[in-house]
Amino acid sequence: MTEPTQSDSENPAEHISVMREELVDAVLGDVAGSYIDATFGRGGHARSLLAQLGPTARLLVLDRDMDAIDEAKRLCAEDSRVCFAHARFAEIRKAARANSFADVDGVMFDVGVSSPQIDQAERGFSFRLDGPLDMRMDTSSGMTAEEWINSATRAEMSRVFREYGEERNAYRIAGAIERARPIKTTGTLASVVESAQGRPDRHKHAATRVFQAIRIFINDELGELRQAIDESWELLRPAGLGAAGTGATETGAAGVGGKLAVISFHSLEDRIVKRAFKALVTPAPLPRRLPIRASEEAPPKAKVMRLQKARDTEVVANPRARSAVLRMAERLL
Ligand SMILES: C[S@@+](CC[C@H](N)C(=O)[O-])C[C@H]1O[C@@H](n2cnc3c(N)ncnc32)[C@H](O)[C@@H]1O
Repeated sequence: MTEPTQSDSENPAEHISVMREELVDAVLGDVAGSYIDATFGRGGHARSLLAQLGPTARLLVLDRDMDAIDEAKRLCAEDSRVCFAHARFAEIRKAARANSFADVDGVMFDVGVSSPQIDQAERGFSFRLDGPLDMRMDTSSGMTAEEWINSATRAEMSRVFREYGEERNAYRIAGAIERARPIKTTGTLASVVESAQGRPDRHKHAATRVFQAIRIFINDELGELRQAIDESWELLRPAGLGAAGTGATETGAAGVGGKLAVISFHSLEDRIVKRAFKALVTPAPLPRRLPIRASEEAPPKAKVMRLQKARDTEVVANPRARSAVLRMAERLL
């Protein structure tokens, strides 16, 4: 499934947060607790969370994009509860440790790209705006889409288009790209893909899947998410352990574990979240030969909330919300 790649906003600096209240409600526990927003963007979710938190709460915000970090710096200057790290969320444990965050009450993720990233032609994410083929969320490191597109083999491109874009004409498109190289701009790539596609899809631009695939590959989005979920889980406070290990919290939230909430926008991401949460609620298998009754099996490590989708009214106002899926797991052990 592809995510919507059209921006939801007229202003390139703006980003309309998806499922804003729902994500905040999903992670909110102790109002004096500590929280992490792993995908700060323009801070929509972070600001909504801060509005619910008390004066002694703490919020660490992360993003790998420097424009997002510039905004985070502004928020830090205004609000002493906030600190930031320019980091990939796969490094969340290191960022948390560096800022003295442990036993956190909530970690929130709103993955994918932001509208400002898509809307700036020079970032190279959009097939609708002509610009250099970059597509890196962090422009200070890693290989650009241009470097990859002009050096990958046909087989490698084809695999990426199929795996990350679920593109049926992957091999044909990869061949057309190979023949058209060197390709330097999003506009040229979009038209090469379009002419290789054959029959047009009435609902989607011909290059939607290929652009999504390249972006996911260049930023290792799925690997990042897998690692980040594992690391975030270890940062959460287990149920029963109150704020700072006291056994009690300002809201009486003792007994409530730290919560990990993720909004994802396409099935590849959602599958990763779903599987990770399922593994947490499935008790570990016990050695076969031990005479143990079912009631004595290892208890689940998590309580998982039913998945949530955006309300119809939000989808009408913001088409990006259409494919959003929110999942939350609370740490019990
Ligand atoms: C959909 S936007 C988040 C918007 C934000 N929740 C808001 O309300 O403004 C996703 C953000 O996550 C960042 N991001 C995506 N993958 C990341 C990763 N692996 N590590 C850190 N930041 C990442 C992007 O740079 C982008 O700013």
